[in-house]
Amino acid sequence: MEPSLKVIETVQKQALKDIEAAHSESLLREVELKFLGRKSEFNAILKSLGSLSPDERRILGPRAQEAKTNIQQSIEKKKQSLALQSFDASAEWIDVTLPGERNERGHFHVLSRVRRDIEEIFSGMGFDVADGPEIETEWRNFDALNIPKNHPARDAWDTFWLKESALQEDGSSQRLLLRTHTSPVQIRYMQSHTPPFRIIAPGRCFRREATDATHEHTFHQFEALVVGDDVNTAHFKYIGEEFFSRFFGSKVIVRLRPSFFPFTEPSFEFDISCTVCSGKKCPSCKYTGWLEVGGAGMVNQAVFEAAGYSRDRYQGFAWGFGLERLAMMKYKIHDIRLFHSGDIRFIRQF
Ligand code: DAH
Repeated sequence: MEPSLKVIETVQKQALKDIEAAHSESLLREVELKFLGRKSEFNAILKSLGSLSPDERRILGPRAQEAKTNIQQSIEKKKQSLALQSFDASAEWIDVTLPGERNERGHFHVLSRVRRDIEEIFSGMGFDVADGPEIETEWRNFDALNIPKNHPARDAWDTFWLKESALQEDGSSQRLLLRTHTSPVQIRYMQSHTPPFRIIAPGRCFRREATDATHEHTFHQFEALVVGDDVNTAHFKYIGEEFFSRFFGSKVIVRLRPSFFPFTEPSFEFDISCTVCSGKKCPSCKYTGWLEVGGAGMVNQAVFEAAGYSRDRYQGFAWGFGLERLAMMKYKIHDIRLFHSGDIRFIRQF
């Protein structure tokens, strides 16, 4: 068909009429094909525009485009109204009284909870929380802490040694291991900070141990380190009593017994009054009135020296407590192996 304004008008008019009359989506699709399809009249008109003179094309071209857009838009509109008509509200009915799907709510593992409690208590007393890697150098884990080469703790039965070594800045190489305690964080922190400071360093440790109710190869400790000009044992005892009283939620008394650790001088075993009987003696404290919680002491000057401080310049105290042990005391857990058992029934109790 020769394109002309009239032809375009007629086709558009007919198309709009047919669209209006289409009562179903399939009929509408037929109308669409008839008017806009590849073999449609309209397509023929658009194609033949090329054979017109430039003047005619300038007039007819835009008009043909406009008609096409009109037809397209009206098809779209009709599609929507047909879709709305076919929407069956009763099929979509929602019973708002049905109980919803419940999202299972998770919570922290009891060890995470204890760690967070400890961090909160110490933050409240002005301590920073420091961190160190679980893979350590032999030097930081032992030498810098004044633990001599022949110390039994270095024995293969106590330490997980790694095959790899780490190259040091001075060109030497250091054997690597899984840290056996959190004490190397003391060295790390002191190497990069100048006293006075007070920190705790909670973290995971590893020992090559046969497991039983009180021993695990993977466990947690938290280290404390307070260094300054005149930090002394009285501060240490006060901080200890304050922490344990807050942790257990009742007044706790601390007892220090002489002990030995290479990295402290003097060294103490740290006991607290039994949290079950408050010192009156019961099965939990094996009728002694006391519970042993960990090792502590005044930082050995050799450790300060290893960390790069001058000998006799500072004083400080340190301790290392087992996180699992504290959790076991607080929540009356009888077997350390439960923590990492993955038994969801155990985890859900806390
Ligand atoms: N690192 C020791 C251990 O794992 C515990 C310890 C004892 C830490 C005395 C200290 C300390 O900071 O002063 O057995």
